[in-house]
Amino acid sequence: MKNSTLVVIPTYNEKENLEKIVEAVKLQDVPADILVVDDNSPDGTGKIADHLCQKYSWVKVLHRTQKVGLGKAYVAGFKWGLGRGYKKLISMDADFSHPVEALSDMIETCASNTVALGSRYIKGGKIVGWNLERYLNSWGANLVTRTILQIRAKDTTAGFKCYPEQFLNKIDLDKIQSAGYAFQVEMLLLAQDNNFKIKEIPITFTDRVAGESKIQGELAKSAKIVFKLAIAKQSYRQFAKFAVVGAINTLVDWAVFYLLLLSTGVDTQLVKQIFKALSFMVSATSNYMMNRVWTFRSKDKKILQQALRFFTVALGGLVINQVIFYLITGLGHMADIYGLILATASATLWNFIFNKKWTFCES
Ligand code: GDD
Ligand code: MN
Repeated sequence: MKNSTLVVIPTYNEKENLEKIVEAVKLQDVPADILVVDDNSPDGTGKIADHLCQKYSWVKVLHRTQKVGLGKAYVAGFKWGLGRGYKKLISMDADFSHPVEALSDMIETCASNTVALGSRYIKGGKIVGWNLERYLNSWGANLVTRTILQIRAKDTTAGFKCYPEQFLNKIDLDKIQSAGYAFQVEMLLLAQDNNFKIKEIPITFTDRVAGESKIQGELAKSAKIVFKLAIAKQSYRQFAKFAVVGAINTLVDWAVFYLLLLSTGVDTQLVKQIFKALSFMVSATSNYMMNRVWTFRSKDKKILQQALRFFTVALGGLVINQVIFYLITGLGHMADIYGLILATASATLWNFIFNKKWTFCES
């Protein structure tokens, strides 16, 4: 029977390193197979991989026809491994930057709810052999990703990780946006957003001795993706604000209704209906204002047009609310509570999307 861990090693022109790294992993005697994902390296790394595959039953090869990036190579490798029942999947470079001595620790630290990460930036971790430029790049990338993406790890760009199958199966590998190096950051963000723990263990990252790094020219592409991820995250938070504003103004609505009722002492059905309409107007207006100022931070001068759009969207939301409630409780004969929850959720989502795109014209 094969091992339950798969070490995925992407390669592009690693002919000096591949055989050595496979032998080095073998010496560690960990319960792991290796999958080499080669992007048709011009230097013949793929041939070496085939040779190793023949020599060792625990070494596998995935040949791809062209170089499409580190992230794509890992996605292909992980899918290959998940399809064959591996429980823990490790990402590791071919060039000895990631110490094979840490493999056993990585496998042990990885758990059904925990991603293990070989970290350069926690106590005990370090970097050997980098020039100042590389160091500054890495430091900058870490700072930016930690602040704008709020990733709670010290080494956000680390490439040496061990993922549990539970995590890789939970996320949609086909939806990963990064083809290249931003993959490392995106995976951490996904782990965090899906409530997986990230546990860092210190490693010494040694710059490669043989071959060349492929990271040059990747910085701009990766920065673009990080920026895109940040925008997506922003709308996530925006949605939370929108929901909070909505909840507050529901209370405003009710409070105004009762205040009117109590202060006038009149409670015929007609008066009640009028008070209900008034309280709706008050709460809808304050809803609009709070969303303008806080949720969407709009500076647009056309307040009247915005307000009208906001009310129009709210009207649409009301219709959706009714329809969904009817579908679930009337047609579906389910309990009212389900109808309420789903109707409110759908209407809120509708309101959010249309207010974001139309009322406040955000792209
Ligand atoms: N199949 C395939 N396709 N492999 C690739 C590709 C690709 O397009 N690009 C790079 N690789 C392989 C390399 O052959 C190597 O085995 C591994 O991916 C890492 O590539 P390097 O070019 O050596 O990366 P690095 O040393 O600059 O960057 C390392 O550190 C970064 C953090 O500072 C990597 O671990 C990165 O993932 C990490 O973000
Ligand atoms: Mn490297």
